[in-house]
Amino acid sequence: MSSVQNTLGPVTSVIGAQWGDEGKGKIVDILAAEYDIIARACGGANAGHTIVVDGEKHIFHLMPSGCLHADKQIVLGSGLVIHLPTLLKEIETLEGHGITIVDRLHISKSAHIVFDYHKEIDGALEEGRENPIGTTKRGIGPAYMDKAARTGIRMGQLSEDLSKEMKNRVATVKNACGVDIDVDLELKSLSDAKEKIGQCVTDTVAYLADARKSGKTILVEGAQAVLLDIDHGTYPFVTSSSTTLAGALQGLGLPPMCVKSCIGVAKAYCTRVGEGDFDTQASGEAEDRLRERGGEYGSTTGRPRRTGWLNIDQLNTANSTNGFTHWNVTKLDVLDEEEVIPVMIKGKLVELEGWKENTAGITSFKDLPENAQAYIKRIEEETGVPVGFIGTGPGREEMITCT
Ligand code: IMP
Repeated sequence: MSSVQNTLGPVTSVIGAQWGDEGKGKIVDILAAEYDIIARACGGANAGHTIVVDGEKHIFHLMPSGCLHADKQIVLGSGLVIHLPTLLKEIETLEGHGITIVDRLHISKSAHIVFDYHKEIDGALEEGRENPIGTTKRGIGPAYMDKAARTGIRMGQLSEDLSKEMKNRVATVKNACGVDIDVDLELKSLSDAKEKIGQCVTDTVAYLADARKSGKTILVEGAQAVLLDIDHGTYPFVTSSSTTLAGALQGLGLPPMCVKSCIGVAKAYCTRVGEGDFDTQASGEAEDRLRERGGEYGSTTGRPRRTGWLNIDQLNTANSTNGFTHWNVTKLDVLDEEEVIPVMIKGKLVELEGWKENTAGITSFKDLPENAQAYIKRIEEETGVPVGFIGTGPGREEMITCT
């Protein structure tokens, strides 16, 4: 076992503790080097992470960010909803860079398929809402609606002839949502997927159980974040899946007791994309400054993210449902120019002193300015969870490891 695995255990998980976009990809990338299997559990192409391949930036929505490590096995678990053309395009992009995927990809036969008509329904539902949710319009909600209604089509059915089934849906969907299904398009997606990734569809629960028995290690890569959780988030401005550690384990069919550690990822400030309350949202220049310094534009939709200050009460709530063993505080350097930093603690916005010094690229805690150290220590004190990792820039090496 590596020293990281000694600390974190053979199954560890990375979970977003705010409203998504906390920058989970970087810690996943670092940890992925130490684990055998990278597993995604829930959600779909609503997620978005930027991966740099050969100096070229790509945005991936379904492939876990750990997939660039060419010797790792990749699992897309049962809790996912998969838009096949998006998945095939991501595989094609990676293969175009010489990174083979198909021979190490394991897709749950129980994961549900997102069809293009789900995306159309997503758009139609949003338009009809008095208070839109601000969804990513990737068909996530409607695909989970089909799943819950027991009318979903699963990856295990890829080998079946679904033409009759798809034609049967046309009238029902038209009547219910006014959306036309392009049957030929949907069937083509299915047959393209069958040809390219049909052999990857498997019983991932058995695969993971066998892997664990033979001593393989697993990194569970959470998607979205705790405050977007369908049960525990800021409903109705949430996504349609379970984004907590428990949700991830359920989505993968992993026994809860197998996890020794869970890293909660939180930005040193806070952002939200989409609608819904945001108690600590900044205004005016401060909101713009955080957005520009942090590059806060949605990677799935390109929407400017709403930006604001850290809400420690929310971190405590997120911790209640996940039991984090460590925090990864990301993007600390984005706060470098702030004179004072407002933070929500016990329902009150308090002002902590800024450090007005460059922290970008610092890799050791003791090299941080005193006030930046105090900021991190305050997070630890108020949450009772140690900060194990601190991001100080976008680069892989720009990380302080305190474990
Ligand atoms: P949906 O998941 O597309 O239905 O969107 C529901 C809400 O979750 C919207 O506010 C989205 O902006 C938000 N959301 C979904 N996925 C992500 C994500 O990966 N990062 C940030 N926000 C997300």
